[in-house]
Amino acid sequence: MARTAKLTFDDRSIDLPIVEGTEGELGLDIGKLRSGAGLITLDPGYGNTGSCTSEITFIDGEKGILRYRGIPIEQLAKHSTFVEVAWLLILGRLPKQAELDDFRERLGRNAPLHEGFKHLFEGFLADAPPMAVLSAMINAIPCFPHTSRDDESPEERAIEDAARLISKVRSIAAYGYRRARGLPYLYPDPKLGYVANFMHLMFSCPYRQHEASPEMVDALNLILLLHADHEQNCSTSTARMVGSSQANIYASCAAAVGALWGPLHGGANVAVLEMLESIHKGGVSAADAIKMAKDGTGGFRLMGFGHRVYKNFDPRARILKAAADKVLAQLGVKDPLLDVARQLEEMALKDSYFVDRKLYPNVDFYSGILMRAMGIPTNMFTVIFAMGRMPGWIAQWKELRDDPKARIARPRQIYTGPNETDYVGIDQRG
Ligand code: SDX
Repeated sequence: MARTAKLTFDDRSIDLPIVEGTEGELGLDIGKLRSGAGLITLDPGYGNTGSCTSEITFIDGEKGILRYRGIPIEQLAKHSTFVEVAWLLILGRLPKQAELDDFRERLGRNAPLHEGFKHLFEGFLADAPPMAVLSAMINAIPCFPHTSRDDESPEERAIEDAARLISKVRSIAAYGYRRARGLPYLYPDPKLGYVANFMHLMFSCPYRQHEASPEMVDALNLILLLHADHEQNCSTSTARMVGSSQANIYASCAAAVGALWGPLHGGANVAVLEMLESIHKGGVSAADAIKMAKDGTGGFRLMGFGHRVYKNFDPRARILKAAADKVLAQLGVKDPLLDVARQLEEMALKDSYFVDRKLYPNVDFYSGILMRAMGIPTNMFTVIFAMGRMPGWIAQWKELRDDPKARIARPRQIYTGPNETDYVGIDQRG
């Protein structure tokens, strides 16, 4: 028997269906609320509102659980790769060896950018914000020809489109890094895997190819894999919103890049480094930072802390903290910012302000320290986040577009402006 909730308002009473997820989550289906009770809901920030049902990612914020297609993130972090996780998220299951090989071949084939992109990059100043460049270039991808086979099945076409976007975003990110430094653009090396090719495109010189160490490749694979999806976060909801108008995947992901850029979302990894650096350089002490975060001085927040869903440790933060320790030790790097981060974490987790509000380190708290150790400049941290999130945006956009019942997203509002009033000519306005 389907469960319902009864809503009584004035002289009306309606039964609204309860939707139960496979992990026991309950949602109130308000599809008939307006017609049945003349009401809409109001939930700024959507803290209590589900936009969809989804089979892709499950988060239990109270327990700090994150699973991609049911597989715990800890197992994927230990056994999988970014490319395999991308296939898992988009196609809904782990790939067989032949499927993974095919996906890797498509990623390699799609790595080169059309020569026309060089003119686009040259149109930006060297200090253009990398996220602005990334968003613009993603929109430009379909402006250039793409040879795809006509006999491909819808699934093969989806894999090709995903490979094209995931692969070209890597080349675009690397080209943006080189443009900013006046370095010549390089061509992808078809012999290299996804991450090693990225590091080649970023760090090679025309006369000496960069040999990324296995430790570095593993570390960046882990960072990308951990960022690959996170259910209906701000940027993914943006990709779904744009996709719901039947805009193409490139326009939808370009819009998602814009949402991710914000310091409350993916831009937090940059803000965390800036915060740690200001503490380290003596701008403020760790205790000052904690105090300012508690007082909300000038809107100051402990960047990399807190989360809309996690009210426990973000499992990705735990994994990245351990990886930062390991990679810095492998590199023989002593980064004082890691010590500052640990000090902040220890102080915050003992402070009732953070404990009472269940504010814990999130994915952005340690990721920047790891990327900095790998030689990735701070202003590219959110670009790396976008590279990692691309499979999630694609998977979520595809889930929406494959849903025959999907409708264009068009929220309602409660109007609080002036009631009807007449126009007043300019000469009567006093
Ligand atoms: C990401 O959604 C996702 O899944 C995102 C993400 C993903 O993978 O896509 O996980 C990636 O965006 C991680 C979050 C990165 N952002 C930051 O680290 C920025 C710092 N954190 C925040 O500003 C904040 O915690 C948010 C934005 C992450 C969550 O904001 P909410 O859910 O709107 O929470 P809130 O602002 O209502 O805060 C609740 C209380 C408030 O205090 P009171 O009004 O109850 O007194 O907690 C306080 C806030 O002031 N608070 C903080 C704080 N975060 C929340 N106080 C100090 N420092 C902080 N970081």
